Amino acid sequence: MQNITCVILAAGRGTRMKSDFPKPLHKVHDRPMLEYLLSTVYSIGISRTVLVLGHGRDEIKGHFKGVDIIVQKKQLGSGDAVNTARQYFKRYRGDILVLYADTPLLKQETLKKLIEKHRKGNYGVTLLSVKVPEPAGYGRIIRDPQGNVIRIVEEKDATLYEKEICEINIGAYVFKRNALFDHINSVCFNRSKKEYYLTDIINIFNIAGIPIGALVIDDPEEGLGINSRVELAGANEIIRRRILEQFMLAGVTVIDPQTTSIDRSARIGRDTIIYPHTVIERDVVVGRYCQIGPFAHLRPGTEIAEHVEIGNYVELVRTKIGRYCKVKHKTYLGDTTLGEHINIGAGTITANYDGKNKNKTMIGDGAFIGVGCILIAPVRIGKRAVLGAGSVVTKNHHVPDGATVVGIPAKIFKKGGRA
Ligand code: UD1
Ligand code: CA
Repeated sequence: MQNITCVILAAGRGTRMKSDFPKPLHKVHDRPMLEYLLSTVYSIGISRTVLVLGHGRDEIKGHFKGVDIIVQKKQLGSGDAVNTARQYFKRYRGDILVLYADTPLLKQETLKKLIEKHRKGNYGVTLLSVKVPEPAGYGRIIRDPQGNVIRIVEEKDATLYEKEICEINIGAYVFKRNALFDHINSVCFNRSKKEYYLTDIINIFNIAGIPIGALVIDDPEEGLGINSRVELAGANEIIRRRILEQFMLAGVTVIDPQTTSIDRSARIGRDTIIYPHTVIERDVVVGRYCQIGPFAHLRPGTEIAEHVEIGNYVELVRTKIGRYCKVKHKTYLGDTTLGEHINIGAGTITANYDGKNKNKTMIGDGAFIGVGCILIAPVRIGKRAVLGAGSVVTKNHHVPDGATVVGIPAKIFKKGGRA
């Protein structure tokens, strides 16, 4: 997208989070909240983005390399934060999209529409608003009798009448560069909050006769600003549901969306069924026609082929499972590779960590692991091998193809013979 640069304000103290960590790094569904906004901005093709940082700036910088940064030395409010970017835009003449780092739910289509409306209407500023049932805490949009936006009043300064207004300021604006920097210095210091409010610029534009546009969106969820842990949990819930919907629309059955969590980077094949209380983390791959859960935990590095059944209280990490395997009850497999058609008995555990290293377990096609086995890695279990219930296979005591082993430590009971 041409002639537009994005400024994300992320310098605030985030006091209401009551946290030692900067607010933009608090995680929503396992990713820093700022990551969502940044990827939305990139997805609409805005090539230049600058972050205004202050509180916790070194930590935030470390997470978002390659983005331009401006430092706001003192946290004197959103108006001051924008003003610190003045030098950056000295020679720039295009539009400026101003966003707040704590609104991770904004959608790509919405930002596109906001920019479009701004350009079509030739406004000096176009802001984003929504009507919400509980507007407390947000800036309220004040309109004149003709319905034109004339100012924004912050909660702290609102009269009882203004507090009743349920159209709120989401905190996303497109400005013409000159209109913004010609007037931002006119924003006065707000004595009750000891801040320069960016929102005061709307009234200043109105008085100066600069046209103000507003895009009112329908979905209140999108406008959620995260100020406290309560809103953080709300955002988490919304993102979790949005991701699940994508999987369902792509052909995955999710039996109980309320208790299921899937990372958006996971890949899951059609006609796979996810049972309740299942957690699927980053980069996990699950093939078609599988059954996962209830109460399964698939951690990063897990790759599951087609027709696999993973059942109750099974945890998998860095584990590859071939077609038609069954791992159905109370099992932990870490750093393990399974061939095809393997049955893992209830309560089987791989001891993959020896206190220093993570070691690998390999299990060949058609092996049958009895209930309650412990496999101390590194170890290889041959094709079609059988482990008697409760066997402990010790480190490097590989089980040959077709052999049956039993006991603690596991000893060969029968060599080969199992076809
Ligand atoms: C702000 C808006 C309010 C709107 C709401 C939407 C103002 C004055 N008010 O209120 O109208 O309804 O967002 O969620 O803008 N920041 C800085 N430097 C500062 C202070 C803040 O960079 O000195 C950044 C924060 O990191 C944050 C953003 O500006 O990302 C907004 O600040 P915040 O304190 O969260 O404003 P709200 O009270 O939520
Ligand atoms: Ca906020």
